[in-house]
Amino acid sequence: MTPPILRTKAALRDAVLGWKRAGETIGVVPTMGALHAGHLSLVEAAKADCDRVIVTIFVNPKQFNNASDLENYPRTEEADAEKLAPFGVDAIYAPGPGEIYPEGFATAVTVTGLTDGLCGSHRPGHFDGVTTVCAKLFLQTLADRAYFGEKDYQQLQVVTRMARDLDLLTEVIGCPTVREPDGLALSSRNVLLPPETRAAAPALNRVMRQLAERLAEGESLGPVRFQAEAALREAGFSEVEYIELRSADGLETLEHPTRPARLLAAAWLGGVRLIDNIAVG
Ligand code: PAF
Repeated sequence: MTPPILRTKAALRDAVLGWKRAGETIGVVPTMGALHAGHLSLVEAAKADCDRVIVTIFVNPKQFNNASDLENYPRTEEADAEKLAPFGVDAIYAPGPGEIYPEGFATAVTVTGLTDGLCGSHRPGHFDGVTTVCAKLFLQTLADRAYFGEKDYQQLQVVTRMARDLDLLTEVIGCPTVREPDGLALSSRNVLLPPETRAAAPALNRVMRQLAERLAEGESLGPVRFQAEAALREAGFSEVEYIELRSADGLETLEHPTRPARLLAAAWLGGVRLIDNIAVG
C-alpha cells in the first residue's frame, strides 16, 4: 500500500504527536523526490532503527541558485509513492511551499566554515537553503533521527553541525553512497543526463578512485589533480568545478591523506552537474 500523503504541518503534527505520546521513535528521510535506490537505502536504515518513518518530499526553492535548475528538477510524486509502498513507511510529508515558507517568512539558518569551498563556493546560498529547510523539517516532524546519504558529503557535515549547534533533538545519521554497477553514484539528477553522455558518467568515480590510490601511495594532490581534470575532459566532461582532498571530519583542506580524508569532486557532463566523494587511505 502506498503511504498516506500529508500536505500540511497540522496533519503532520497530529500524526507525530500521537506517535510521540505512544513512546514511539520517529525517523525522517528528507528528500526532494525523484526517489532512487539511494533514497530507499535510507528508508531501510530508518525502518531498522525507528518505530515510525516519514519520508519528506519537498523541492526546496531556497537551495537552488539557478532558476532553470529548479524548474528542471524532476518531480515524480506518484511514482515516488509507489516506490515507497513495499517499505512500510508511515507517512509521506509533501507540503506545499506555503507550509514551509509562509507569507512573511524571514529566517535563515547559516552554518559558517564548513560551507566555505567545495559546493558552497559554486552554489552561493545553497547551504543556507539546505540548513533552513532541514531545521524546519526536523522540527515539524519531531524526528529522533534523520537519514542522509554520504553522496552529498558536505551537506551531511553541514546538517550534522547545524543540528548539534542548535541543540535540535534530531540525530543526523550518514549512510553509504549507493552506486550503479559501473560506479556512477545514484542521484535524482542522473535522469537528466542526455543518453549519449550516460556512458561517460562513471569516469568521474573511476578517475577519483585512481587519484585516491595515488594519494594513498604518497603523491601530493597538486600535480595529480591536473591529470585527473584532463582525464575527465578527455572522457567528455565540459567543466571540472573542483577536485579536493579534505579531512573527513571538519572538511579541512589537505594535500596528503595524513588523517581520515575524503576526495570530493564536482564536474559537468551534458549540462548536468555531477558530484561524488570517496574515502582516501
Ligand atoms: O539532499 C537533498 O535531497 C536535499 O538537499 C534535502 C536534504 C532534502 C534538503 O532539501
